[in-house]
Amino acid sequence: MNILVTGFNGKVGKEVAKNLKAKGLSIKCAVRNADSLKREQNTYEFVSLDFTNPSTFDHALNEIDKIFLIYPPGADIKFEEFLNVAKQKKVKHIIYLSVKDVQFLPFIHHYKNEKLIKKSGTPFTFIRAGYFMQNLNDFLGAELRENRRIFVPAGKGKTSFVDTRDLAEVASIAFQNTEEHQNKKYVITGDEALDFYEVAQMMTDVMHVDIHYTNPSVKEFRKCMLKKGAKEQFINVVVGIHFPTKLGLAKGITNEYEKLTKIKPRKMKNYIMDYQEEWL
Ligand SMILES: NC(=O)c1ccc[n+]([C@@H]2O[C@H](COP(=O)([O-])OP(=O)(O)OC[C@H]3O[C@@H](n4cnc5c(N)ncnc54)[C@H](OP(=O)(O)O)[C@@H]3O)[C@@H](O)[C@H]2O)c1
Repeated sequence: MNILVTGFNGKVGKEVAKNLKAKGLSIKCAVRNADSLKREQNTYEFVSLDFTNPSTFDHALNEIDKIFLIYPPGADIKFEEFLNVAKQKKVKHIIYLSVKDVQFLPFIHHYKNEKLIKKSGTPFTFIRAGYFMQNLNDFLGAELRENRRIFVPAGKGKTSFVDTRDLAEVASIAFQNTEEHQNKKYVITGDEALDFYEVAQMMTDVMHVDIHYTNPSVKEFRKCMLKKGAKEQFINVVVGIHFPTKLGLAKGITNEYEKLTKIKPRKMKNYIMDYQEEWL
């Protein structure tokens, strides 16, 4: 069984690759520039894949049975073409990283993408994920390091955080028992919904450094990020992601992780303990 892991350089793909490799599964990792990963060439096998460039699809999907599929940020993603090539090459299972509450969000890519995957006829599993804890060391990381603050316009709303290592575990379970998980949708969150004030307090307690959540307005956030040189499109995405949180709509948690794995999902406190070096 050969699994193609897309988004290897991202918050989820990397954890999926680590998890599958640790379990001894045969994987290939898809990146846009395979030559740039010299350091990891001994650990993983890489193949070039650019979702904006259909000429990379056939080669990336050679001898692949299953795919861990993400929809990357950016424009001109040829998602349907990629699914068509996967179908032609007789891929047997796609695990697609989607988002919690996608069924209420017809204006986002994942809504359409789930439909395209179903239509393609390739067996699938959808992982509809909550808000990644790892956002704190990704796009929220710079403000945490430079200004000791969580700077995001999320109001006082709670969020159903999930550790991407737990998403990887779900993917690994589904890959190992494709039939049982075929054509299923799993809504994967942690077991506590938290607001960003609580997250800042946990970071302060664990790291012994004062961290604040400043709860900026959208206007304040936009002004500050533009001044720092962030792109308008990125700012809009961040504002859009956190708008439901502001409205109190992002707090729903599920116990689907525990049902699938028989263990509790990782807690925010453990995540902070594991990643604290990233912010110090
Ligand atoms: N953040 C959240 O809280 C959250 C929650 C639920 C669902 N999601 C979904 O998760 C997905 C993103 O996953 P992530 O956060 O793990 O990714 P990420 O950390 O944002 O990293 C982006 C990845 O996409 C790859 N990529 C970018 N453009 C590409 C292209 N044209 N062709 C091929 N690969 C490309 C990058 O690969 P290279 O650098 O190798 O090119 C990188 O691995 C999105 O669909 C998002 O909606 C996010």
